[in-house]
Amino acid sequence: MTITVVPTGEACGAYIEGVDLTKPLDSDQIRDIRKAWNEHHVIIFRQQPMNDDDLERVSGYFGHLAVDPFVVPIPGRKHMIAIKREADETSPIFADIWHADWTFKADPPFATCLFGIDIPPTGGDTLFANQVMALEQMPEDLRDKLEGRIAIHSAKMGYSKKGSYGDKFKSHSMEINASDEALESETHPFIIKHPESGKQSIYGSAIAYIVGVEDMPQKEGMDLVMELQRWQVQERFVYRHKWEKDMFVMWDNRSVLHKATGGFEGHRRELHRTTIADKAGC
Ligand code: SIN
Repeated sequence: MTITVVPTGEACGAYIEGVDLTKPLDSDQIRDIRKAWNEHHVIIFRQQPMNDDDLERVSGYFGHLAVDPFVVPIPGRKHMIAIKREADETSPIFADIWHADWTFKADPPFATCLFGIDIPPTGGDTLFANQVMALEQMPEDLRDKLEGRIAIHSAKMGYSKKGSYGDKFKSHSMEINASDEALESETHPFIIKHPESGKQSIYGSAIAYIVGVEDMPQKEGMDLVMELQRWQVQERFVYRHKWEKDMFVMWDNRSVLHKATGGFEGHRRELHRTTIADKAGC
């Protein structure tokens, strides 16, 4: 059965129709989904009443499942976490900051999958900023400043003991193991080339997790990183995704940034998440 691709008409994202993810997919379907994904960066499947086995199976069609370095997984599911917030919870919204997942690692997962389980009637949208588009439209003087530059990435602002998800993060539904491992850093170029589409994009963003620029004084480097972030997440590059129960979304961390949002106080929200890496054991 051939799939139908319906673009959101916004900065990125497309709905994929004509596929039942609760059943095994064949290689033609996987190829067609991958093609649409490379083109639209974020792909959305509606009305897919999957269980956690289905979620792992579907994620696994596209690469190796990765283990979250800091968020404690769902019991019995090494590769899956729950993004969860109870109706009466007052802790800050998890992941309410622009980022690409785990860029503080040497081999970050290239993709993330999220599946809607308990969706509030309002709020809780996920924002995606198209980093291919942001680079294509970037003014020459900013691009000149970034070309050939290497960014320093670290999880310290989030997941170290003093970070925003460290000792002071009081959530009663998400368990996070803040640790000194978050103080380590890795480097990646600011501008990367997608291995399949060949398109260039901006990789990562300030704070989560870019904390400096190689061979630049700290202040000068962070001024550049903040200037870049102001460019990267302008509204014209952003698609606001609204969730439904049983909705499955996959995004490419090499070509979009993402960010959670609040606005659902008094309502429960739960989504299950997997990440996909090129290499096994990441
Ligand atoms: C995430 O960054 O994976 C969470 C996104 C969300 O909760 O909307």
